[in-house]
Amino acid sequence: MRVTVFSAQPYDRRFFDELAAVQDADDDIEWHYQEAGLDAGTVALAAGSDAVCVFVNDCLDAAVLDTLATLGIRAIVLRCAGFNNIDLAAAHRLGLFVARVPAYSPEAVAEHALAMIMTLNRKTHRAFNRVREGNFALDGLLGVTLHGKTAGVIGTGRIGLCMARILKGLGCEVLGYDPYPADAFQAYGEAVPLEALLARSDIVSLHCPLTEQTHHLIDDGTLAAMKPGAMLVNTSRGALIDTPAVIGALKSRQLGALAIDVYEQESELFFRDHSAEIIDDDVFARLASFPNVLITGHQGFFTVEALREIAQVTRANLMAYAEGIECPNRL
Ligand code: NAI
Repeated sequence: MRVTVFSAQPYDRRFFDELAAVQDADDDIEWHYQEAGLDAGTVALAAGSDAVCVFVNDCLDAAVLDTLATLGIRAIVLRCAGFNNIDLAAAHRLGLFVARVPAYSPEAVAEHALAMIMTLNRKTHRAFNRVREGNFALDGLLGVTLHGKTAGVIGTGRIGLCMARILKGLGCEVLGYDPYPADAFQAYGEAVPLEALLARSDIVSLHCPLTEQTHHLIDDGTLAAMKPGAMLVNTSRGALIDTPAVIGALKSRQLGALAIDVYEQESELFFRDHSAEIIDDDVFARLASFPNVLITGHQGFFTVEALREIAQVTRANLMAYAEGIECPNRL
Protein backbone atom coordinates (compact mmCIF):
# COMPACT_ATOMS: atom_id res chain seq x y z
CA MET A 1 0.00 0.00 0.00
CA ARG A 2 1.37 3.40 -0.99
CA VAL A 3 0.71 6.18 1.51
CA THR A 4 1.42 9.87 0.93
CA VAL A 5 2.32 11.52 4.21
CA PHE A 6 1.47 15.24 4.09
CA SER A 7 3.07 17.88 6.35
CA ALA A 8 5.88 15.38 6.94
CA GLN A 9 8.61 16.54 9.29
CA PRO A 10 11.92 14.78 9.97
CA TYR A 11 10.53 13.47 13.25
CA ASP A 12 7.54 11.87 11.46
CA ARG A 13 9.96 10.00 9.20
CA ARG A 14 12.09 8.98 12.16
CA PHE A 15 9.23 7.26 14.00
CA PHE A 16 7.63 5.65 10.91
CA ASP A 17 11.06 4.44 9.75
CA GLU A 18 11.86 3.11 13.23
CA LEU A 19 8.61 1.18 13.14
CA ALA A 20 9.22 -0.14 9.62
CA ALA A 21 12.60 -1.46 10.77
CA VAL A 22 10.98 -3.73 13.37
CA GLN A 23 7.90 -4.81 11.39
CA ASP A 24 7.49 -8.11 9.54
CA ALA A 25 8.28 -8.17 5.83
CA ASP A 26 4.58 -8.76 5.10
CA ASP A 27 3.86 -5.20 6.18
CA ASP A 28 4.08 -3.63 2.75
CA ILE A 29 3.28 -0.01 3.55
CA GLU A 30 5.34 2.37 1.40
CA TRP A 31 5.52 5.80 3.03
CA HIS A 32 5.96 8.73 0.63
CA TYR A 33 6.81 11.86 2.51
CA GLN A 34 5.69 15.33 1.41
CA GLU A 35 6.75 18.40 3.35
CA ALA A 36 3.78 20.27 1.89
CA GLY A 37 0.56 20.50 3.81
CA LEU A 38 -2.56 19.09 2.16
CA ASP A 39 -4.91 21.60 0.54
CA ALA A 40 -6.53 22.24 -2.84
CA GLY A 41 -3.17 23.32 -4.27
CA THR A 42 -1.18 20.27 -3.15
CA VAL A 43 -3.73 17.46 -3.27
CA ALA A 44 -2.37 16.29 -6.66
CA LEU A 45 0.79 15.12 -4.84
CA ALA A 46 -1.29 12.18 -3.59
CA ALA A 47 -1.72 10.79 -7.13
CA GLY A 48 -0.78 7.14 -7.34
CA SER A 49 -1.32 6.48 -3.63
CA ASP A 50 -3.90 4.30 -1.93
CA ALA A 51 -4.07 6.39 1.22
CA VAL A 52 -3.03 9.73 2.68
CA CYS A 53 -1.70 10.41 6.15
CA VAL A 54 -2.39 13.92 7.49
CA PHE A 55 -1.86 16.16 10.51
CA VAL A 56 -3.65 18.96 12.36
CA ASN A 57 -3.36 21.79 9.84
CA ASP A 58 -3.99 19.81 6.67
CA CYS A 59 -7.22 20.89 5.01
CA LEU A 60 -9.66 18.10 4.23
CA ASP A 61 -12.70 20.06 3.13
CA ALA A 62 -15.29 18.70 0.71
CA ALA A 63 -13.39 19.91 -2.38
CA VAL A 64 -10.09 18.31 -1.30
CA LEU A 65 -11.87 15.08 -0.35
CA ASP A 66 -13.58 15.01 -3.73
CA THR A 67 -10.22 15.30 -5.50
CA LEU A 68 -8.70 12.62 -3.26
CA ALA A 69 -11.55 10.26 -4.15
CA THR A 70 -11.12 11.07 -7.85
CA LEU A 71 -7.41 10.26 -7.56
CA GLY A 72 -8.37 6.83 -6.24
CA ILE A 73 -7.49 7.45 -2.58
CA ARG A 74 -9.69 5.26 -0.38
CA ALA A 75 -8.26 5.85 3.09
CA ILE A 76 -7.29 8.84 5.21
CA VAL A 77 -5.36 8.36 8.42
CA LEU A 78 -4.94 11.28 10.79
CA ARG A 79 -1.84 11.23 12.95
CA CYS A 80 -3.65 13.30 15.57
CA ALA A 81 -6.63 13.10 17.94
CA GLY A 82 -8.58 16.23 16.87
CA PHE A 83 -10.52 15.87 13.59
CA ASN A 84 -11.99 19.37 13.20
CA ASN A 85 -9.98 19.79 9.95
CA ILE A 86 -11.92 17.12 8.04
CA ASP A 87 -15.42 17.34 6.60
CA LEU A 88 -16.48 13.95 7.92
CA ALA A 89 -19.92 14.05 6.32
CA ALA A 90 -18.31 14.56 2.90
CA ALA A 91 -15.77 11.78 3.58
CA HIS A 92 -18.55 9.37 4.53
CA ARG A 93 -20.57 10.35 1.49
CA LEU A 94 -17.54 9.49 -0.67
CA GLY A 95 -17.14 6.17 1.15
CA LEU A 96 -13.64 7.06 2.38
CA PHE A 97 -12.13 5.20 5.33
CA VAL A 98 -11.07 7.77 7.97
CA ALA A 99 -9.27 6.91 11.20
CA ARG A 100 -7.40 8.88 13.83
CA VAL A 101 -5.11 8.33 16.80
CA PRO A 102 -7.53 9.01 19.66
CA ALA A 103 -5.05 9.10 22.52
CA TYR A 104 -1.29 9.35 22.29
CA SER A 105 0.00 10.18 25.69
CA PRO A 106 -2.63 12.60 27.00
CA GLU A 107 -0.11 13.14 29.80
CA ALA A 108 2.25 14.73 27.24
CA VAL A 109 -0.24 17.52 26.48
CA ALA A 110 -1.21 18.01 30.12
CA GLU A 111 2.47 18.16 31.12
CA HIS A 112 3.06 20.81 28.46
CA ALA A 113 0.14 22.84 29.80
CA LEU A 114 1.74 22.54 33.24
CA ALA A 115 5.10 23.67 31.83
CA MET A 116 3.41 26.73 30.33
CA ILE A 117 1.61 27.59 33.58
CA MET A 118 4.82 27.25 35.59
CA THR A 119 6.87 29.26 33.10
CA LEU A 120 4.36 32.07 32.80
CA ASN A 121 3.75 32.25 36.53
CA ARG A 122 7.40 32.18 37.68
CA LYS A 123 8.81 33.78 34.50
CA THR A 124 11.59 31.26 34.12
CA HIS A 125 11.85 32.15 30.40
CA ARG A 126 12.78 35.68 31.35
CA ALA A 127 15.01 34.60 34.23
CA PHE A 128 16.94 32.30 31.87
CA ASN A 129 17.87 35.22 29.60
CA ARG A 130 18.60 37.61 32.45
CA VAL A 131 20.99 35.27 34.25
CA ARG A 132 22.88 34.56 31.02
CA GLU A 133 23.46 38.30 30.75
CA GLY A 134 24.65 38.55 34.32
CA ASN A 135 21.43 40.21 35.50
CA PHE A 136 20.35 38.69 38.80
CA ALA A 137 17.70 41.30 39.66
CA LEU A 138 14.35 39.79 40.63
CA ASP A 139 12.24 42.78 39.70
CA GLY A 140 9.54 41.70 37.22
CA LEU A 141 9.83 38.00 38.07
CA LEU A 142 7.23 37.93 40.84
CA GLY A 143 4.83 35.00 40.67
CA VAL A 144 2.13 33.53 42.90
CA THR A 145 2.15 30.31 44.91
CA LEU A 146 -0.07 27.90 43.01
CA HIS A 147 -0.78 25.75 46.06
CA GLY A 148 -4.25 26.72 47.27
CA LYS A 149 -5.24 28.50 44.05
CA THR A 150 -8.35 27.49 42.10
CA ALA A 151 -7.82 25.95 38.67
CA GLY A 152 -10.63 25.29 36.18
CA VAL A 153 -10.44 22.57 33.53
CA ILE A 154 -12.83 22.97 30.59
CA GLY A 155 -13.28 19.55 28.99
CA THR A 156 -12.55 16.74 31.41
CA GLY A 157 -11.83 14.04 28.83
CA ARG A 158 -8.52 12.21 28.51
CA ILE A 159 -6.19 15.25 28.60
CA GLY A 160 -8.43 17.26 30.95
CA LEU A 161 -8.39 14.41 33.48
CA CYS A 162 -4.56 14.28 33.40
CA MET A 163 -4.51 18.04 33.87
CA ALA A 164 -6.91 17.80 36.82
CA ARG A 165 -4.72 15.14 38.46
CA ILE A 166 -1.59 17.28 37.99
CA LEU A 167 -3.30 20.43 39.30
CA LYS A 168 -4.61 18.53 42.33
CA GLY A 169 -1.05 17.32 42.89
CA LEU A 170 0.08 20.95 43.00
CA GLY A 171 -2.43 21.55 45.79
CA CYS A 172 -4.90 23.52 43.70
CA GLU A 173 -8.64 23.40 44.20
CA VAL A 174 -9.78 21.90 40.89
CA LEU A 175 -13.04 22.77 39.13
CA GLY A 176 -14.22 21.06 35.96
CA TYR A 177 -16.80 21.82 33.31
CA ASP A 178 -17.87 19.27 30.72
CA PRO A 179 -21.33 18.78 29.21
CA TYR A 180 -20.63 15.01 29.24
CA PRO A 181 -18.77 14.69 32.57
CA ALA A 182 -16.82 11.51 33.28
CA ASP A 183 -17.19 10.03 36.77
CA ALA A 184 -13.40 9.76 37.00
CA PHE A 185 -13.16 13.55 37.42
CA GLN A 186 -14.73 13.34 40.90
CA ALA A 187 -11.43 11.98 42.22
CA TYR A 188 -9.72 15.28 41.39
CA GLY A 189 -12.23 18.07 41.63
CA GLU A 190 -15.69 19.51 41.61
CA ALA A 191 -17.86 19.55 38.48
CA VAL A 192 -19.46 22.99 38.13
CA PRO A 193 -21.33 24.98 35.46
CA LEU A 194 -19.14 26.98 33.06
CA GLU A 195 -20.12 30.35 34.60
CA ALA A 196 -19.05 29.20 38.08
CA LEU A 197 -15.77 27.83 36.75
CA LEU A 198 -14.96 31.10 34.99
CA ALA A 199 -15.91 33.23 37.99
CA ARG A 200 -13.91 31.19 40.53
CA SER A 201 -10.77 30.07 38.70
CA ASP A 202 -7.34 31.70 38.97
CA ILE A 203 -6.25 29.50 36.05
CA VAL A 204 -8.55 28.31 33.27
CA SER A 205 -7.19 25.51 31.06
CA LEU A 206 -8.99 24.47 27.86
CA HIS A 207 -9.14 20.77 26.99
CA CYS A 208 -12.32 20.44 24.94
CA PRO A 209 -12.37 19.66 21.22
CA LEU A 210 -13.08 22.29 18.58
CA THR A 211 -16.70 21.94 17.48
CA GLU A 212 -19.44 24.34 16.38
CA GLN A 213 -20.40 24.68 20.06
CA THR A 214 -16.87 25.40 21.29
CA HIS A 215 -15.79 27.72 18.45
CA HIS A 216 -14.78 31.01 20.16
CA LEU A 217 -15.84 29.60 23.53
CA ILE A 218 -13.55 32.29 24.91
CA ASP A 219 -14.91 35.59 23.61
CA ASP A 220 -15.71 39.04 25.05
CA GLY A 221 -18.53 37.56 27.16
CA THR A 222 -16.64 34.65 28.73
CA LEU A 223 -13.52 36.81 29.23
CA ALA A 224 -15.62 39.33 31.16
CA ALA A 225 -17.03 36.46 33.26
CA MET A 226 -13.53 35.35 34.30
CA LYS A 227 -11.95 36.31 37.59
CA PRO A 228 -9.99 39.54 36.97
CA GLY A 229 -6.28 38.81 36.55
CA ALA A 230 -6.76 35.08 35.88
CA MET A 231 -4.50 33.05 33.59
CA LEU A 232 -5.92 31.40 30.46
CA VAL A 233 -4.22 28.33 28.98
CA ASN A 234 -5.05 26.81 25.60
CA THR A 235 -3.32 23.63 24.46
CA SER A 236 -6.38 22.35 22.62
CA ARG A 237 -7.29 24.16 19.37
CA GLY A 238 -6.70 27.79 18.44
CA ALA A 239 -10.26 28.59 17.39
CA LEU A 240 -11.57 27.93 20.91
CA ILE A 241 -10.36 31.49 21.48
CA ASP A 242 -11.44 34.69 19.76
CA THR A 243 -7.92 36.13 19.59
CA PRO A 244 -8.82 39.84 19.12
CA ALA A 245 -11.13 39.55 22.18
CA VAL A 246 -8.26 38.07 24.20
CA ILE A 247 -5.95 40.89 23.09
CA GLY A 248 -8.59 43.35 24.29
CA ALA A 249 -8.82 41.59 27.67
CA LEU A 250 -5.03 41.62 28.04
CA LYS A 251 -4.89 45.34 27.21
CA SER A 252 -7.64 46.14 29.73
CA ARG A 253 -5.80 43.95 32.34
CA GLN A 254 -8.96 41.84 32.82
CA LEU A 255 -6.92 38.83 31.67
CA GLY A 256 -3.77 38.45 33.77
CA ALA A 257 -1.80 36.08 31.55
CA LEU A 258 -2.19 33.90 28.49
CA ALA A 259 -0.43 30.67 27.55
CA ILE A 260 -1.19 29.20 24.14
CA ASP A 261 0.22 26.21 22.30
CA VAL A 262 -2.35 26.64 19.54
CA TYR A 263 -3.50 29.65 17.55
CA GLU A 264 -6.50 30.11 15.26
CA GLN A 265 -4.36 31.09 12.23
CA GLU A 266 -1.52 28.71 13.12
CA SER A 267 -1.61 26.89 9.76
CA GLU A 268 0.14 29.90 8.20
CA LEU A 269 2.97 29.80 10.74
CA PHE A 270 3.42 26.73 12.85
CA PHE A 271 5.74 23.77 12.25
CA ARG A 272 8.05 25.83 9.99
CA ASP A 273 11.02 28.17 10.49
CA HIS A 274 10.01 31.76 9.68
CA SER A 275 12.84 33.35 11.64
CA ALA A 276 14.35 35.08 8.60
CA GLU A 277 11.01 36.38 7.34
CA ILE A 278 8.66 39.19 8.19
CA ILE A 279 5.56 37.81 9.91
CA ASP A 280 2.53 39.28 8.15
CA ASP A 281 0.06 38.30 10.85
CA ASP A 282 -0.44 41.49 12.93
CA VAL A 283 -2.71 39.76 15.44
CA PHE A 284 -0.01 37.19 16.18
CA ALA A 285 2.64 39.93 16.38
CA ARG A 286 0.53 41.87 18.91
CA LEU A 287 0.01 38.75 21.01
CA ALA A 288 3.72 37.98 21.00
CA SER A 289 4.49 41.50 22.20
CA PHE A 290 2.88 41.08 25.65
CA PRO A 291 5.23 40.20 28.50
CA ASN A 292 2.46 38.11 30.08
CA VAL A 293 1.81 35.97 27.00
CA LEU A 294 3.64 32.72 26.36
CA ILE A 295 3.30 31.06 22.96
CA THR A 296 4.59 27.68 21.85
CA GLY A 297 4.07 26.26 18.37
CA HIS A 298 1.73 23.29 18.90
CA GLN A 299 4.24 21.11 20.71
CA GLY A 300 1.97 19.71 23.41
CA PHE A 301 2.06 16.28 21.78
CA PHE A 302 5.79 16.38 21.11
CA THR A 303 7.32 13.64 23.24
CA VAL A 304 9.13 10.48 22.17
CA GLU A 305 6.39 8.34 23.69
CA ALA A 306 3.59 10.18 21.92
CA LEU A 307 5.32 10.13 18.50
CA ARG A 308 6.00 6.41 18.86
CA GLU A 309 2.34 5.83 19.74
CA ILE A 310 1.17 7.98 16.80
CA ALA A 311 3.31 5.97 14.36
CA GLN A 312 2.16 2.63 15.78
CA VAL A 313 -1.55 3.45 15.85
CA THR A 314 -1.45 5.08 12.39
CA ARG A 315 0.14 1.96 10.97
CA ALA A 316 -2.40 -0.26 12.77
CA ASN A 317 -5.25 1.87 11.37
CA LEU A 318 -3.87 1.42 7.84
CA MET A 319 -3.43 -2.33 8.32
CA ALA A 320 -7.01 -2.62 9.60
CA TYR A 321 -8.18 -0.82 6.47
CA ALA A 322 -6.00 -2.97 4.17
CA GLU A 323 -7.13 -6.22 5.79
CA GLY A 324 -10.77 -5.14 5.99
CA ILE A 325 -10.94 -5.74 9.72
CA GLU A 326 -12.78 -3.67 12.34
CA CYS A 327 -10.83 -0.50 13.22
CA PRO A 328 -11.63 0.92 16.68
CA ASN A 329 -10.27 4.33 15.67
CA ARG A 330 -12.44 4.73 12.59
CA LEU A 331 -14.43 7.97 12.46
P1 NAI B 1 -11.41 13.79 24.73
O1 NAI B 1 -12.39 13.51 23.67
O2 NAI B 1 -10.89 12.64 25.56
O3 NAI B 1 -11.97 14.88 25.74
C1 NAI B 1 -12.62 16.06 25.34
C2 NAI B 1 -13.66 16.39 26.38
O4 NAI B 1 -14.23 17.64 26.03
C3 NAI B 1 -14.80 15.36 26.46
O5 NAI B 1 -14.97 14.91 27.77
C4 NAI B 1 -16.01 16.15 25.97
O6 NAI B 1 -17.21 15.76 26.63
C5 NAI B 1 -15.60 17.56 26.35
N1 NAI B 1 -16.39 18.59 25.68
C6 NAI B 1 -17.08 18.51 24.51
N2 NAI B 1 -17.73 19.66 24.26
C7 NAI B 1 -17.45 20.50 25.30
C8 NAI B 1 -17.84 21.81 25.64
N3 NAI B 1 -18.67 22.51 24.86
N4 NAI B 1 -17.37 22.35 26.79
C9 NAI B 1 -16.54 21.64 27.60
N5 NAI B 1 -16.16 20.38 27.34
C10 NAI B 1 -16.60 19.82 26.20
O7 NAI B 1 -10.19 14.53 24.01
P2 NAI B 1 -8.69 14.69 24.54
O8 NAI B 1 -7.87 13.52 24.08
O9 NAI B 1 -8.71 15.04 25.98
O10 NAI B 1 -8.20 15.94 23.67
C11 NAI B 1 -8.79 17.21 23.83
C12 NAI B 1 -8.32 18.12 22.72
O11 NAI B 1 -6.94 18.39 22.88
C13 NAI B 1 -8.41 17.51 21.30
O12 NAI B 1 -9.72 17.69 20.75
C14 NAI B 1 -7.39 18.29 20.55
O13 NAI B 1 -8.02 19.41 19.96
C15 NAI B 1 -6.41 18.76 21.62
N6 NAI B 1 -5.07 18.19 21.47
C16 NAI B 1 -3.99 19.05 21.42
C17 NAI B 1 -2.71 18.55 21.28
C18 NAI B 1 -1.49 19.45 21.25
O14 NAI B 1 -0.43 19.01 20.80
N7 NAI B 1 -1.55 20.68 21.72
C19 NAI B 1 -2.47 17.10 21.14
C20 NAI B 1 -3.66 16.30 21.29
C21 NAI B 1 -4.91 16.84 21.41
